[in-house]
Amino acid sequence: MQNNLRVVTLDGPAGVGKTTLAKRVAQELSIAYLDTGAMFRIFGWKFGEAAPKMSEEELEAHIAQYSFTLSGIGFDSVLSVNGTPVGDEIRTEEVAALASTVAKLPVVRDALKRVQREISTQTSLVAEGRDMGSVVFPQAKFKFFLDATAEERGSRRFKQLQEMGKPANLDLIISQIKERDMQDRTRSVAPLVAADDAHIIDTTTLNIDGVFAAIMEHFAE
Ligand code: DC
Repeated sequence: MQNNLRVVTLDGPAGVGKTTLAKRVAQELSIAYLDTGAMFRIFGWKFGEAAPKMSEEELEAHIAQYSFTLSGIGFDSVLSVNGTPVGDEIRTEEVAALASTVAKLPVVRDALKRVQREISTQTSLVAEGRDMGSVVFPQAKFKFFLDATAEERGSRRFKQLQEMGKPANLDLIISQIKERDMQDRTRSVAPLVAADDAHIIDTTTLNIDGVFAAIMEHFAE
């Protein structure tokens, strides 16, 4: 393992802009971007429905069938499962709900924590997720936690859907976000929480450029 590898963690609730920022920070620092939500989504998609009823041994056997690799840097980072790049098939509400289900299972979290740490021994990276700074990479030197009110995150999502020409109901979106927040913040294993030493950035009144600048100023020294 090279010990000059660096890990930057970026956590926060759904819809706060983590992905956009994490990719941009990775690009700026010329390091890889790791989307850990995609890992939970893959498991949710592949065996999420059956997972809660499986024994630990069964779950471990399922998990053992998947190996993750990360290549490229910044915007060109590619997460692959068993050699195939992860695609848009996991970007649906159904898969998000299944991902949230598997994300509660300690066996799944432990397995992915091991994989995420292993990847960090091979490349420097910006790790985006919910528990990167608090659980997976407690030693990371640079930790960020982005936050914004559920109303603001809901209205950003609403605008995105409108721009894509998709039907959207603002009240429904906000209530779904609040529900997902509750689940993520109150689960017993690795709840969504800022690490004690994370830089907390409230993005409610900031645009993407503003948040990016607030993050990058910590790398100035
Ligand atoms: O960020 P996302 O919407 O792709 O995440 C999908 C689900 O996985 C979401 O319910 C939160 C969960 N997750 C998690 O528990 N821990 C992480 N490090 C990343 C995602």
